[in-house]
Amino acid sequence: MSRIVFLNGSFLPLEEAKVPFMDRGFLFGDGVYEGIGVLDGRLIDNEAHLERLERSLSEVRIPNPYTRAEWTSLQGEIVRRNGMQEGFIYFQVTRGVAERDFFFPENAKPTVAMFTQAKAIVHAPAAEKGIAVVTVPDLRWERRDIKSISLLAQVLAKQAAKEAGAQEAWLVDEGFVTEGGSSSAFIVTPTGSIVVRPLSHAILPGITRKSLLRLSKEGGIALEERRFTVEEAYEAAEAFLTSASNFVLPVVSIDGRPVADGKPGPITRKLRELYLQMASAPALAAE
Ligand code: PDD
Repeated sequence: MSRIVFLNGSFLPLEEAKVPFMDRGFLFGDGVYEGIGVLDGRLIDNEAHLERLERSLSEVRIPNPYTRAEWTSLQGEIVRRNGMQEGFIYFQVTRGVAERDFFFPENAKPTVAMFTQAKAIVHAPAAEKGIAVVTVPDLRWERRDIKSISLLAQVLAKQAAKEAGAQEAWLVDEGFVTEGGSSSAFIVTPTGSIVVRPLSHAILPGITRKSLLRLSKEGGIALEERRFTVEEAYEAAEAFLTSASNFVLPVVSIDGRPVADGKPGPITRKLRELYLQMASAPALAAE
């Protein structure tokens, strides 16, 4: 069975979903997106993702084509039509189709595209073994808090990581780690505190990050919201990343240097466990 995607009001097979040549997403990267984890057919933290979508749209002045209830119903429908149990829903809104011109078009209608990616998140081998990251300069623009579809800097950073034998890039600005190419970056100090960069225009406000901070407080794990340097990360007791498509993933090497003994650490494992419990609890996770 072909994957069913959503495009501008219709559900249709992927092969039939076509976006016009003059779409501003294609020409300018003029759009925003969201990505949401799915577990047991349920959307994880959906309200927070939709809230972030609303903010991204309003920051770039693209009208939101749907209410929250309408988005939720489309998301539920695409999960159902694809019979997806575990994975990721991606959706993006561009400023629409118009002759190429930098100024906002007068009457363009936003283009809305949504698709699913089935993926093992809970039993992913990377979650057991941990992953390697390498640091690369953060070459992105200054509004990284907006989930823009213009991802060229992330594409280049993540490809550089892959070519260095790693699975994620940690982006570095003035010696401090901002975040991962497509994830939030955390370390654990030798005294057992989690360290994560505070929210600002420099990073995306990760939804998994937000849940993780709540869970760490509930679990009595100390937390420091501050910037950390690459050198501090090399000396960390543990490191991990969070994202909607991976939940919590241990980082066991940074720039080829093992993090502590090179194995996923106990605080990371505990946080992953707490996150999985949260994501598996229908009352909390289903929106
Ligand atoms: N990326 N930082 C960046 C730059 C990201 O692209 C992402 C998510 C995150 C984590 O945010 P969240 O917890 O809300 O997923 C942080 C998604 C998964 C992606 O581009 O595929």
